[in-house]
Amino acid sequence: METKKKILITGIAGFIGFHLASFLIKKGDYVIGCDNFNDYYTPELKNVRAEKLKTLGIEVIPLDIQNIQELIPLLKENGITHIVHLAAQAGVRYSITHPMPYADSNLTGFLSVLELARAIEAKLIFASSSSVYGGNTKIPFSETDPTDSPVSLYAATKKSGELLAKSYHHLYQIPMTGLRFFTVYGPWGRPDMAYYSFSEKILAGQPIPVFNHGKMERDFTYIDDIIEGTSAAIDHCSGFEIYNLGNNQPEPLMNLITLLEAALGKKALLDYKPMQAGDVTTTYADISKAQANLAYAPKTSLASGIDKFTDWLLEYQGALSSKTKS
Ligand SMILES: NC(=O)c1ccc[n+]([C@@H]2O[C@H](COP(=O)([O-])OP(=O)(O)OC[C@H]3O[C@@H](n4cnc5c(N)ncnc54)[C@H](O)[C@@H]3O)[C@@H](O)[C@H]2O)c1
Repeated sequence: METKKKILITGIAGFIGFHLASFLIKKGDYVIGCDNFNDYYTPELKNVRAEKLKTLGIEVIPLDIQNIQELIPLLKENGITHIVHLAAQAGVRYSITHPMPYADSNLTGFLSVLELARAIEAKLIFASSSSVYGGNTKIPFSETDPTDSPVSLYAATKKSGELLAKSYHHLYQIPMTGLRFFTVYGPWGRPDMAYYSFSEKILAGQPIPVFNHGKMERDFTYIDDIIEGTSAAIDHCSGFEIYNLGNNQPEPLMNLITLLEAALGKKALLDYKPMQAGDVTTTYADISKAQANLAYAPKTSLASGIDKFTDWLLEYQGALSSKTKS
């Protein structure tokens, strides 16, 4: 019989943290989490996610990971067995204009989480990113490919996290698994990401910025597939491993726009722009390692995932506007 795990999730009020916590509690694990509710994107969305988690019986502690040592007595008392570290300053483009939060959360904060894992002797599963592959032209991206040429500060901090983790694994033999997520999307998603901000602009009749004149491809990965892969990584965490979690099917940006137009029933106004600093043209995951070791098998097509996202968005926007009116 599978033993019940006791899991701390950092960044629990974030997009992936919210879905993971909901999944794990329903699976029967004990879940607790923390989040600093920063305003990188609207904290309203983080608050609503946190409220939903509380109704599932999950404790959500407002706390910055740089101060996570404060939780040591509580986590020891609760017998936490696993930490899933998702809290981070995300976003490639924002890192160009706002570099310091990346050092605070992704470097100092990451180190605090490593110290916590050492103090409470918990296994650590942490979020990395496809951005570590930089401008690599060999596709699909494999975990064995070079990742020492980041093209954004965000990517450099995510790669640094992998290296910090590796050093702690070497020094203290903490079992650790790093997950390189590829453009995760879905309901309760992140308003700063293209699929979400494009939808809002299409609905509002505003032009959407189409960078590199639309000549970009992303390996969009649906949230439920990411959660299945992350849950399997928690179950199999031993030694030190890095996995790509992607969809293994890159889609042109223009396909995303066509699918959003169809799902929202409205044409997009396109504002073609040159390539942005820090961006890459293609992401494409080789998922054979995760398939072999984690039985990872993403099954959601972009078309069906976008339908689920837009259904949620319309319902959520409706709920927000009726709340504002009342
Ligand atoms: N969504 C994607 O497509 C994607 C792709 C690659 C990697 N990732 C990584 O996955 C993880 C989760 O991403 P997400 O999409 O859920 O992002 P998100 O921004 O929705 O979630 C991150 C959460 O962490 C919290 N947080 C940030 N800094 C913190 C700090 N110092 N202390 C406490 N909480 C803090 C934020 O308030 C937020 O709620 C991140 O590490 C991100 O870098 C995400």
